Amino acid sequence: MTDSVIAIHREYNKAATNRNKQMKPFLKWAGSKYRIMDRILDTLPKGNRLIEPFAGSGAVFLNTNFEEYLIADTNADLINLFKQIQSHGDDFIDYASSLFSPENNTESAFYELRNEFNECVEPIRKSSLFIYLNRHCFNGLCRYNSKGKFNVPFGRYKQPTFPTEAIRNFQKKSKRAIFEIADFKATMDKADDGSIIYCDPPYVPLTATASFSAYTQLGFSMADQQALADHAKKLTARGIPVVISNHNTEFTRSLYSEAKITSFDVQRFISSNANNRNKAAELVIPPEISCD
Ligand SMILES: C[S@@+](CC[C@H](N)C(=O)[O-])C[C@H]1O[C@@H](n2cnc3c(N)ncnc32)[C@H](O)[C@@H]1O
Repeated sequence: MTDSVIAIHREYNKAATNRNKQMKPFLKWAGSKYRIMDRILDTLPKGNRLIEPFAGSGAVFLNTNFEEYLIADTNADLINLFKQIQSHGDDFIDYASSLFSPENNTESAFYELRNEFNECVEPIRKSSLFIYLNRHCFNGLCRYNSKGKFNVPFGRYKQPTFPTEAIRNFQKKSKRAIFEIADFKATMDKADDGSIIYCDPPYVPLTATASFSAYTQLGFSMADQQALADHAKKLTARGIPVVISNHNTEFTRSLYSEAKITSFDVQRFISSNANNRNKAAELVIPPEISCD
């Protein structure tokens, strides 16, 4: 798992990036591209609208400068939170930040608030609890059981801080965005002339036991990975550029055998065991899948 082919897209659009001041997402998110933004930016072609079918923390959304954005994910809690921030800004910040208190940073308060989150249907309260859980749970993981209940244990952090500035930055940027709860295929199908698509699906596992794809209760199977590759091919054939990130494995190299591939080593931070936070090879598949 060392390196493979290196290909940088020729028309990489320097104007469409924010290289000087990198914006930190306000959520901790497994697979966030925040730390490898430069490598991702190098592969993004020109376009008017960036479509991200796998939004996650929005690291790519925050660190690019397209005129418009379509930002989607199947995690309804995540997208509803983005919409709350977009619509309510500082009012939302005032309300959500009140959950960050010493009294709420105890094991018993955490499990009470986690139970409340799992039953809650009131949008502002639910989104506020989602940020609380993200900052107080173990490793900032977002994981649900088969019944769709958030089930990450207490994180035991000394003093979790509420990310006020990062949320304000997100809110400013959200004026250019549409947020949607949607499966990746439906999102990709919304591409039209001028759109470019950046796909960052749950990773193909490096080993049978290393998989993490429980961002939603549905998970992400190898058949989903295949469907993504097929969909990307269809869109590039229509002239829509598609850039995809994934682990560099035999399976992904065969899925994208016709593509130009950029590959580099990254440090992974998802594992609960510090000894397992090894380097993994990341693979980015720039557009023009069917050209070479
Ligand atoms: C690797 S993360 C994206 C990380 C993001 N690029 C960032 O920098 O934070 C993958 C995302 O895909 C979402 N996801 C999983 N299955 C999906 C599906 N079928 N369609 C759309 N999104 C999905 C997960 O909820 C998760 O947020």
